Amino acid sequence: MAPSAIPRLPDSTLAFRREGYTFISTRCDRLGTDLFATRLLLRPVVCLRGAEAAGTFYDPLNFTRENAVPRSAQHLLQDEGSVQTLTGLAHHRRKRLFIDQLTDRSEERLAERFAAAFDAALSRPDCRRFVLDTEVRAVLTEAALRWAGLEAAPAIVQQRSEEFGLMVDKAGSLGPPNWKARRRRVTTERWAAEQIARLREDGAGEDSASPAAAVALHRDDHGQLLPEPVAAVELLNLLRPVVAVGRFMAFAVVALIQRPLWRARLAEGSAEDELLFSQEVRRYFPFFPLVGGTALRRFAWRGHEFDAGDMALLDLYGTNHDSRVWRDPESFDPDRFRGWNSDPNTLIPQGGGDVVTGHRCPGEGATLGLISSAARVVGEHPEFEARIQDLTIDLRHMPAAPRSGVVLTRRQTPT
Ligand code: HEM
Repeated sequence: MAPSAIPRLPDSTLAFRREGYTFISTRCDRLGTDLFATRLLLRPVVCLRGAEAAGTFYDPLNFTRENAVPRSAQHLLQDEGSVQTLTGLAHHRRKRLFIDQLTDRSEERLAERFAAAFDAALSRPDCRRFVLDTEVRAVLTEAALRWAGLEAAPAIVQQRSEEFGLMVDKAGSLGPPNWKARRRRVTTERWAAEQIARLREDGAGEDSASPAAAVALHRDDHGQLLPEPVAAVELLNLLRPVVAVGRFMAFAVVALIQRPLWRARLAEGSAEDELLFSQEVRRYFPFFPLVGGTALRRFAWRGHEFDAGDMALLDLYGTNHDSRVWRDPESFDPDRFRGWNSDPNTLIPQGGGDVVTGHRCPGEGATLGLISSAARVVGEHPEFEARIQDLTIDLRHMPAAPRSGVVLTRRQTPT
């Protein structure tokens, strides 16, 4: 790492694990800077925060994800050979696959499937309690499998839902819990590879327009089908994140419980209100704390020279809560998005920059549609209430979640 004038802190591994989501922004605020150097897990890193930093970090010429994501997380999330590990033209072509499957129409179909299934689950007379954190995963898994054009028998849904849940929950953990989730993932990858093989054998048949078939039949720059394990990983990269949206849904319900006026407002079905609300859920609540990158070349930013190979961490949560951009950032206020200028680097729970050329998440539209659907369906079921529960969110814990879970309980009707 080239010398520079930026603040340099001693090893921060323990402090990071102790403080979690606010680790980078607390130090940036204290030091009056948007970047500082330290060591984490024995590696020198530069921590970055804010919209300008996001612009630099998501310039595809500046950073790759290679060697920047701990193996414990990478194996549970995007995995080896996936779009996230690629750069340049190879990345561009693979990214097209995702963008083409996540059109507005396709995202609507996914949200409609989910909304219908969630509504059906809450409408069942024997549904007295709905434990959002876990039960919504099964609903999402079924919606994702059907949307992708895959079989969704109850046993398959149950198994995949548990596996996807583990991948998301244990990505931030180390040691035995992480190893256990990685062992379970082997089963998921085997299942995904079987789906790819079947779709290739059938020439995808009737399903040739489905997202799963598009992955199976995708060809790389040289006109070759993806190796089966890579296609399996990319299929999981379409399915797992859909199920991960369940955590945003749990947060959305926390917001509705704490702000009943918004629950009533969303039940009225205004698409604009749904969008404002879902954007604020993505901004306000903690999901991924940060994302790591390895410098691809020598370049300077704010007086610091990065050398090729240097590692940087961009603070996603801190940028979403940056008071220079967001007025009163610690208050939940969907109306702040009325007339928002859509700056790609200020609201970055799913990455910044350009979705086509960089690593920005291609699933933002799908995420917004799913959060909106969940909030609307909960709004349409006033017979469900939230009994006393501890909805505090501990930002030191990654991934963060409401302390007691989120449970909806059917009101007792007078007999
Ligand atoms: C990339 C977060 C939903 C598919 C990313 C990145 C983040 C993220 C932070 C950027 C990583 C980086 O900079 O390297 C999330 C969150 C979601 C979500 C918080 C909601 C809970 C989705 C959905 C899909 C999806 C619904 C697809 C159906 C992907 C893919 C990439 C990605 C394929 C890799 C893009 C690339 O490397 O070019 N996501 N995502 N995500 N996301 Fe999402």
